[in-house]
Amino acid sequence: MTATNTQKLLLLPGDGIGPEVTEEARRVAVHVAPDLEIDSAFFGGISYDNFGVPLTDEVMERARKSDAILMGAVGGPKWDNVPRDKRPEAALLSMRKNLDVYANLRPAFCFPALAGASALKTELVEGLDILIVRELTSGVYFGQPKMIEDLPNGERRGVDTQSYTTSEIRRVAARAFELARGRTGRTGKFPGVLSCEKSNVMDSGLLWRQEVIKLHQEQYSDVRLDHMLADAAAMHLVKAPKDINILLADNLFGDILSDEASMLTGSIGMLPSASLGDPGVPGLYEPVHGSAPDIAGKGIANPIAAILSLEMVMRWSLDRADVADKIFAAVGKALDGGARTADIGGTMTTRQMADAILKHL
Ligand code: NAD
Ligand code: IPM
Ligand code: MN
Repeated sequence: MTATNTQKLLLLPGDGIGPEVTEEARRVAVHVAPDLEIDSAFFGGISYDNFGVPLTDEVMERARKSDAILMGAVGGPKWDNVPRDKRPEAALLSMRKNLDVYANLRPAFCFPALAGASALKTELVEGLDILIVRELTSGVYFGQPKMIEDLPNGERRGVDTQSYTTSEIRRVAARAFELARGRTGRTGKFPGVLSCEKSNVMDSGLLWRQEVIKLHQEQYSDVRLDHMLADAAAMHLVKAPKDINILLADNLFGDILSDEASMLTGSIGMLPSASLGDPGVPGLYEPVHGSAPDIAGKGIANPIAAILSLEMVMRWSLDRADVADKIFAAVGKALDGGARTADIGGTMTTRQMADAILKHL
């Protein structure tokens, strides 16, 4: 927080549908928190086009000085052939790493009105409320070496390195256990934390399981802990998703399992996320979806993931749980009233959907 106590939100609209959905989140923010100082900057492909890099030092500095950052999405076919370190996605990875926001919270919540829009049978998803806690600043995304090399025999070899240290595992697991303490009363098979890895084949997975068990015994034995291999977890997510309360996974498995979980809620256009570090570090908030090049520019993207990401900003970074509750309720009411963008079976534009939510605020 700044000396004047004015809370600052930095918007990074990004590329594709990013600016379209972020603009609706901005309108909601202005409405529910008029005192909030809202600033905006280029990030991703648009930054590359203007400055030759996807993330400038100046924008990184502004991000550090904010209370929270709300991102849209980055990337698109236009930048597919840009060198990896200049690609829009590199900006996102740098931002996450520089802020050290290691705990990525991805709630998969099925609004009652959308239970029928899920890819699964209504009874499997009615009342679904999963929280995926994805490790975000290590693992195969960042491990070295990472390269494509030429081999003497004329072949090429691509290498990525999956690596985790004790502290990297412990800090994200601790966050999952703490969150579980606030989400009690579950009756499913895995009512506490379900930790997923592939300890059967990966050493980093084995270390993950060992360290999670150790931390659990030391500090969190009041929380129920279960383990599942990540492939089996992918299966369980579509077989009996309501068994799961908090799903803890590494960076790559968490990425994949959260896209899978999105379809339980109706659409990837519904899923928000919060990336949190240690206390005092600004939170980074973003929809789970990408820049959706196939629908960008048409004004038909679902803004709910972005608006619910704003809800998470209020809850986790700005200490305004009351405002967060109001946003969440307004989204539910808009859906109850039949508001739908195309991805969830309707015909509303991005703006109309946001207006339907604003009507309840
Ligand atoms: P995507 O999430 O952009 O799109 C997947 C599908 O979901 C598309 O059919 C798209 O139209 C649909 N979709 C996504 N968001 C939607 C919304 N809000 N409303 C309605 N439909 C929506 O994934 P992709 O196509 O694999 O990736 C496109 C680009 O986005 C790539 O460059 C990728 O790297 C990038 N990406 C960025 C982020 C991010 O910035 N956080 C996340 C994922 C992907
Ligand atoms: C996400 C995205 C990113 C990731 C990409 C765009 C780098 O898929 O946020 O889920 O893989 O983390
Ligand atoms: Mn992803």
